[in-house]
Amino acid sequence: MSPSDHAATSGRRRIAVVGLGSIGGVIAGSLDAAGRHDVTACLRRGIDRLIVERPDRTIEARPRVLTDPSQAAIHDWVLLCTKAQDTASSAPWLQRLCGPSTRVAVLQNGIGHAERLAPFVGPATVVPTIVYYNGERLAPDRVRYRRASDHDFAVSDDAGGRAFVELLEGTGMPILLSPDFKTIAWRKLLLNAVANPITALTLQRQGVFRREDMGTLVLSALEEAAAVARADGAHIGDDEASRLQAMLLTFPPDAGTSMYFDRLAGRRSEVDALTGAVVAAGERHHIATPLCRMLLTLMRAADSTPIAVKR
Ligand SMILES: NC(=O)c1ccc[n+]([C@@H]2O[C@H](COP(=O)([O-])OP(=O)(O)OC[C@H]3O[C@@H](n4cnc5c(N)ncnc54)[C@H](OP(=O)(O)O)[C@@H]3O)[C@@H](O)[C@H]2O)c1
Repeated sequence: MSPSDHAATSGRRRIAVVGLGSIGGVIAGSLDAAGRHDVTACLRRGIDRLIVERPDRTIEARPRVLTDPSQAAIHDWVLLCTKAQDTASSAPWLQRLCGPSTRVAVLQNGIGHAERLAPFVGPATVVPTIVYYNGERLAPDRVRYRRASDHDFAVSDDAGGRAFVELLEGTGMPILLSPDFKTIAWRKLLLNAVANPITALTLQRQGVFRREDMGTLVLSALEEAAAVARADGAHIGDDEASRLQAMLLTFPPDAGTSMYFDRLAGRRSEVDALTGAVVAAGERHHIATPLCRMLLTLMRAADSTPIAVKR
């Protein structure tokens, strides 16, 4: 039975989650526990079960597990939950999982998801998402979920976005359907592009933004990135940079960022998909981005020298 026949006759969808880290673990466990669909976890090392710690309860899920892309077949949905820089290494999974009626939801930070995924998904349709929840992988088979905003996701108010909302029914995860996805994607990118490399480069958590001398740098970099966002068509107000800077000061000082954790662990960071995306869009729109370019260059250099080697 083809995936579309399966979906039409049973209402159940076959969902493959590629990458079972902080974000993928939470969504795979939540969908499996909701019981409405058949969930397959595509990962590199097998697990027997998947525990999701939530503030209200702990879920024990048992999705089907695949560790070899050659065992995968076409699915109705693929949720791509790797870091952006691991998109290319996920190609063998995407190749096997995607058919003409497959939708690929991209659960990655950044902008331009559809363009980034196009070379890997063949005839499938890309559904960009913005993830707002906080996920933390505690062990290969255990993740923690924390609500970090009114919504756990935002998607575009179009056919793909509405299908994603329907897919997640029963998980209790609120989703914003946005008529202006570009603006909210850029708004999240501004913060990620500026704040994440600063924490990773200084090896300090969000408390670093409370330093008085950090204010001017952060504000200037955010203003630079906001100008690029506007030129790219996002509806970003004149006060957005100072609003985002003020927001940074409301985050717990001991909260890290994924780039900070990646640097500590000696993993390559997502800086190209975040700060690099701002610099690239600046080039397209002929807007100078010296501060973002500096953060990008320093982070690329830091990425090439795992921190453990220096100690
Ligand atoms: N964590 C958050 O709270 C949060 C919030 C909002 C947005 N995001 C965004 O969500 C995305 C995912 O981040 P994350 O925090 O979930 O990252 P993560 O914890 O590092 O998880 C990424 C997972 O992808 C897996 N992976 C990488 N390449 C793979 C491949 N070729 N095949 C199969 N699995 C592969 C990794 O597996 P291994 O264990 O084998 O390396 C890892 O389990 C990023 O774009 C991030 O910026 C994260």
